[in-house]
Amino acid sequence: MNGRIPEDIIESLRQQADIVEIVAGYVTLKKQGQNYTGLCPFHQEKTPSFVVSPAKQIFHCFGCGKGGNVFTFLMEQEGLAFQEAAEKLALRYGIALPEKETTPAQKEQESRIKRLRQINQWAMELYEQALKSKIGTPGREYFSRRGLSSETIGQFHLGYAPDQWDFLTKELTAKGVSEQELLLLGLSVTSSRGTLVDKFRGRVMFPILDERDQVIGFGGRIIGEGQPKYLNSQETPLFHKGKGLYGLSLAKNAIRQQDQVIIMEGYMDVIAARQQGVANAVASLGTSLTVEQVKLLTRYTYRTLICYDGDSAGEAATLRGLDILDQQGCRVGVMRIPEGKDPDDFLKIKGKEAFIQLAEKAFSLFEYKFQLNMEKFDKEEMAGKVAIIQASLPELAKIKSPVARQGYITMMADTLHFPEPAIKDEVRRYFTGGQKKDKTAPARSPELKSQSSEELAQGIIIRCFLRDVRRQEAIEEAGGASLFGNPQARSLYQTLSALIMAGYVTLKEEDLVALIDRQEERQWLTGILLQESPPGDEERVFQDSLLTLRRQKVERQIKDKMAKLAAAERSGDNSAAKEIMIALSGLNIEKQKLKP
Ligand code: UTP
Ligand code: MN
Repeated sequence: MNGRIPEDIIESLRQQADIVEIVAGYVTLKKQGQNYTGLCPFHQEKTPSFVVSPAKQIFHCFGCGKGGNVFTFLMEQEGLAFQEAAEKLALRYGIALPEKETTPAQKEQESRIKRLRQINQWAMELYEQALKSKIGTPGREYFSRRGLSSETIGQFHLGYAPDQWDFLTKELTAKGVSEQELLLLGLSVTSSRGTLVDKFRGRVMFPILDERDQVIGFGGRIIGEGQPKYLNSQETPLFHKGKGLYGLSLAKNAIRQQDQVIIMEGYMDVIAARQQGVANAVASLGTSLTVEQVKLLTRYTYRTLICYDGDSAGEAATLRGLDILDQQGCRVGVMRIPEGKDPDDFLKIKGKEAFIQLAEKAFSLFEYKFQLNMEKFDKEEMAGKVAIIQASLPELAKIKSPVARQGYITMMADTLHFPEPAIKDEVRRYFTGGQKKDKTAPARSPELKSQSSEELAQGIIIRCFLRDVRRQEAIEEAGGASLFGNPQARSLYQTLSALIMAGYVTLKEEDLVALIDRQEERQWLTGILLQESPPGDEERVFQDSLLTLRRQKVERQIKDKMAKLAAAERSGDNSAAKEIMIALSGLNIEKQKLKP
């Protein structure tokens, strides 16, 4: 699990760090019995299913299944690598880390990146200075036409690339920047005469900063008409299209505080929003939101509002973005900017209050898609109404809550002046397969589910096993790994057995969480570690659970044989069928013996 930090230091970090203290920095925790509970920071929920155990120094969410120790919490919450999480803890608890041991190649790479960042920083400053100086008049005039204050210009480090062949190239070369570096960062290009010239000329400049305020690239807007309207940095070692979000470094605190982000399309939208006091806006730059961008956002919030331009390109981009947000477990609202305007225009004309009202009236995913369907078909005609309803069914089917679904059915009935029972009929037909279901239905964030006796038994066995590793013999005798129907439980059991083989005689629960590398396994483990055991004698409970698992295993085998039997009969393979039937009767006898 660990990279370069020595084992003993990791160990002392783990002992000194208090998970309750660390988690409390992000989640409001309430004491409940021995544990603390709160609203899970990893998924959207209204009632707390997130549990932190100070005794075991672990956390687990019974809603979304995430779990682990203090390291994994920081890694997930802050999007850190193990090394970075350890460094953060070391700083907090005053533990000295040894100097990072890096290979010469790593060192070289690090200093190369540092150097490139420095050059970008110089470029940003040169463009800023140019905007303020005499040659910057066209830029200043442009920004003032667009209503930007000098404070806003400063906050976003906006600049101006003079309309000259080699303004930046010359300045940076004088600072010792090489040709190769200028080309690599996309600040200069080779002219037809073979000389280096500036890539951005006669444009107002929008530096793109990452969350740590480092300049990773630039966008330059033409002043007046011309193509392209915006010229952006190409892929460079620092800039990767579709990975960052414009404005995030300025917006991240507001996003955390308001627990909400507004996602826009363009540079100017975000800037105008902030100037008007809407500080939680970022832009996806270009139109389509990527999974990586959404993951970046979910470090700060799961509540998202999409606010794209009110034109058809914006509409299509909204639809794609919606699905990605939904798939990543975000709650999504859609703000519809009227009359083909963009957020920047709207804010300028209608002001902040109207914008906030638009945010409050944001459409849910279903409402938005229903609206679009309403615009596609004629809602005055009977055939149009039916088409609207049918086009909306796949979306309706994705809604899990029966209450919400009912609400939307009533809403559709009211809006379309269509009898509600008839809509319900259509819905029923859709659900029972009258129409093909949408196979691309996105994965939902898991909900709290009640556990089957088999799930419970698997947890009990692993817990009892941890209490006394000598129980391994009994488990092996009963069937070993094959007893576990849950793949996480099975592979965890195998890992534990391997640890025992490797000489571990005791497996302390909290140590174990640190030893398990695979995320799914670890999350399953933290879940069962925080569960109460049923009352009664531990050995009895253990034996009962073993019996349950043996029975379930036979059930699984019977099911499997039944399916094979059906297949054999279909293909007319009599001898195979006979063999399967013999095996089946054996299994049934075994099942009888295992009756509780
Ligand atoms: P828009 O065309 O909506 O521009 O493109 P805008 O943000 O409203 O800009 P103004 O108000 O005309 O100045 C939205 C975003 O798409 C990207 C930019 O990130 C822009 O902010 N884009 C657009 C480009 O990268 N290149 C282009 O040529 C056009
Ligand atoms: Mn615009």
